[in-house]
Amino acid sequence: MKSVCRFLLGCGALLLGLTVCAGQTFAKEKYIVASDCTWPPMEFLNDQKQVQGYSTDFIRAVAEAVGIEVEVRNIAWDGIFGGVATGQYDIVASSTTITEERKKQFDFTDPYFEVHQAVIVPAGKQVSTLADLKGKKVGGQIATTGIFVMRNAKVDCELKEYDDVGLAIQDLVGGRIDAVICDDPVAMYYVNMKKDYAGKLNLSFKTEDKELYGFTIKKGREDLLKKLNEGIAKVKAAGLDKEFAKKWMGQ
Ligand code: ARG
Repeated sequence: MKSVCRFLLGCGALLLGLTVCAGQTFAKEKYIVASDCTWPPMEFLNDQKQVQGYSTDFIRAVAEAVGIEVEVRNIAWDGIFGGVATGQYDIVASSTTITEERKKQFDFTDPYFEVHQAVIVPAGKQVSTLADLKGKKVGGQIATTGIFVMRNAKVDCELKEYDDVGLAIQDLVGGRIDAVICDDPVAMYYVNMKKDYAGKLNLSFKTEDKELYGFTIKKGREDLLKKLNEGIAKVKAAGLDKEFAKKWMGQ
């Protein structure tokens, strides 16, 4: 009798254990991620309109590393930070540079990538400093660090802010503006990888200052921040960041 009891008790414990385990596997916490998919090869849409790119692979690998689920949505840059503030989504994974100004309003994870600003001009043209852009029409994506860098440099040029850097490039190729400023991986993509623009563009120079990308979340979500940082560390330790760089930037 005693041994039967012990057996039944054992079964109960096992069952309880299994339920707890199953609970953990099935009820992964889910977070919504916003990416402005106009920034190839960091976050952009493939032919099937699915989100892809370096930041996309990175945030998915982070999720995998810490056992959470993420759903990445394409959200326009203009207003992307507003949406994370109002809780429409949890994380912005959009090649966002960590800046002092932005840190006042949002929390950033540890850095996941490093970039410089790059200036693109038509093939055959050359500029080697920001000051060379004096009197020129310079395009960039609205409210990005490229635009901020131009403003801070106080170069007397005409700044044109676009919703999408691709439209700025189109205007550059069409001769309507003289230069485009954007993050260097994006510049390299348009200059070297985009077939329509082959031979038409020149990545003329990069700024010295480095910028660091971070994932952006609403202030005060300490648990989520901790989890993401833990994931970033794991992804880097496993060398996946290098794999993604090779896959998307060939470097
Ligand atoms: N790194 C720049 C910034 O933080 C540009 C980011 C633009 N990202 C995008 N997905 N459009 O301002």
